[in-house]
Amino acid sequence: MSRRKLAAGNWKMNGTRAALSELQALVSAHPDPSVDILICPPSTLLRDAAALADTAPLDIGGQDCHSEATGAHTGDISAPMLTDAGATHVILGHSERRENHNESSELVRAKARAAHAAGLTAIICLGESLSEREAANTLDIIAGQLSSSVPDATTAVNTVIAYEPIWAIGTGLTPTVAQIDEVHDFIRTRLITRFGPDIGNGVRLLYGGSVKPSNAAEIFETDNVDGALVGGASLKQSDFSPIIKALEESA
Ligand code: 13P
Repeated sequence: MSRRKLAAGNWKMNGTRAALSELQALVSAHPDPSVDILICPPSTLLRDAAALADTAPLDIGGQDCHSEATGAHTGDISAPMLTDAGATHVILGHSERRENHNESSELVRAKARAAHAAGLTAIICLGESLSEREAANTLDIIAGQLSSSVPDATTAVNTVIAYEPIWAIGTGLTPTVAQIDEVHDFIRTRLITRFGPDIGNGVRLLYGGSVKPSNAAEIFETDNVDGALVGGASLKQSDFSPIIKALEESA
């Protein structure tokens, strides 16, 4: 099955309106990409980013949403609000949210349901810590997060899975290609077992954690890597564009 590749940028808590020039540069640099390109800016930039991307082959996403559509939840943002702001995707269960905000896999699944109900594609993040990897627990951790975070109504359109080993995020460390391959093959097999071959083979699997222009091509050679979720190197067009090009060339 051929899956369209996806280059996704997670700006995290970075970027004021001045950063929109990077988005403009990205749009100009990729007028006709052969892969999907997504930028998830902070919520404050969603409207401006969506307006800028409106006529361009670039999607805009949020970085989190609440599990409910409305209500007394000061500081939170709901899935319909993201849709209303022009987002088409939302990152859920990022390890920084699981750690900093104590998000459980069950909560991530509730958020994914809310995202689906609002018509958003949920990018559900999974990943082990360094101590879990060193204890040879990686696949158990991934299996648990996968079964508890991913809702039953998952389809190849409404869900993307991102494997982001926590120890590789923002550290410059990356797993070997063999390690990425092992986890992505494992996730693929689990998805096929749970959802059947059409959905299981159709869901795109991203790798995230210290992806840079210098290592992207090697990572994209892996069969079940359908793209990347990029943090630091997505903030500047000059860093993100070579990663997008490497993905286009990996087809
Ligand atoms: P870095 O690319 O900065 O390591 O971040 C990865 C990440 O967490 C993307 O969601």
